[in-house]
Amino acid sequence: MILGKASPDDTNLHPLRYKWAYDLYMQAVRNTWFPHEIALKEDLEDWAKMTEDERHAVKFLMAFFNPAELIVNRSIALGIYPYLKSPECHLYLAKQMWEEANHCVAFEYVLQTFPLDREKVFAIHLEVPSMKAKENYINRYMKRMTEDTLDIETVDGKKDFIRNLVATNLVMEGIWFYSGFMVALSFRQRNQLRNFGSMINWVIRDESLHLKFGMNLLHNILEENSELLTEEFATEIQNIVIEGVNLEVAYNRDLFPNGILGLNADYVNQYVMYVTDRRLEELGLPKHYNVTNPAKWMSTATDVFELVNFFEAQNTSYEVDGHSGATSGASHAPKDGGAPVMEAGINAKKAETPAPTQTAPIGE
Ligand SMILES: [Fe+2]
Ligand SMILES: [Fe+2]
Repeated sequence: MILGKASPDDTNLHPLRYKWAYDLYMQAVRNTWFPHEIALKEDLEDWAKMTEDERHAVKFLMAFFNPAELIVNRSIALGIYPYLKSPECHLYLAKQMWEEANHCVAFEYVLQTFPLDREKVFAIHLEVPSMKAKENYINRYMKRMTEDTLDIETVDGKKDFIRNLVATNLVMEGIWFYSGFMVALSFRQRNQLRNFGSMINWVIRDESLHLKFGMNLLHNILEENSELLTEEFATEIQNIVIEGVNLEVAYNRDLFPNGILGLNADYVNQYVMYVTDRRLEELGLPKHYNVTNPAKWMSTATDVFELVNFFEAQNTSYEVDGHSGATSGASHAPKDGGAPVMEAGINAKKAETPAPTQTAPIGE
C-alpha cells in the first residue's frame, strides 16, 4: 500500500514497487536548473517601457507565487510525505521540495532585479481579499494534516489526505499556477520580458512533473483503496476543484483591473476553465466547463496536451545529466511535457499505474 504509517521496512528502496515515482525522480534530477543562469537584467529595458497595468500584473503574480511555493512545501512536508510508505515517493518529494525552494528563490531574484518594493509586494497576499481567499482555501484542507488528528488508516483519514492533495497539487499547482504561467508567458509572446519567460519555462517544466506525480499518486491511492470510490466522494472532489476555480476567477479580476494588450480577466479565466476540464478528465471525472482553449499559443510553451506525452518525447533541451552531473545544451526553451492520460479515475474501479519510459539523458 502506498498510503499508511511508515514502518522500518519502508526505507528499503528495492525492490521498487512504484517505478513511476523513481522514474520521475530521475527525470527531475536531470531537469535541475539555477535561477542565476538567467540574465534577468536584460529584461529591464522592457520593464522601463511597460505600462502601469502590465507592471501591476507582474507584481501581482510574484506576490502570489512567492509564498505559494512555500505553501506547497508545507503541504508536502506535513500533509503528504508523512503519510506515504513508499521510499521512491519519498525520493521524489525530497527533490520536489528542493524545486519549490528553488522557485521561491527564482521569484525572489525577480523581485531583486525589477524595481519593485519587496515589502509592498509581500504584503499583497496578506491584504488583497482575493489572494487571501486562495491561501485560506489551501490552509483549510491542510489544517487536519497539521493538527496531528489525522489517522491515515481510517476512511476519513484517507479522504482528508486526498482532499489536501487535490487542493494543493491539482488545484494550486495544476490550475492556479498554469493561469499565472500563461499571463507571465504572454509578455514573451509580445517579445517582452524574454528572460523572465525562460525562467517561467523552467518552472513549468518542474511543475508539470509535480502534477504528474500528484496525479499518479491519486490514481494509485484510489486503486488500492476502493472504499473511497463512491459517487458522493467523486462529487465532493469535483466541488473542491470548482471552488478553487471560482477563487481563481475572482483573483484574475484583481490581476487585471483594466486588462492589458491582448489579455484581460475573461480571457485568462477561460483558459483556467479549459485547463480545469483537462485536469478533471485526467482524474476520471466529467468536464465541467466545456470551453475552448483561448490561448492556443500556449501549446508551444506548455500546452496541457503536450503534458500528456512527456515521457514519449525526447527531452533534448537544457538538461542536467543525472549520471555525470554535466549540463548539456543551453536552450532556454525546454520541451515541457507530462504523462499519459490516466485511463481510469475516481469513478472507475480500476486505475492503471502508468509505466513511463524514461527519456535518455543527453550524452549517453
Ligand atoms: Fe513551484
Ligand atoms: Fe510545484
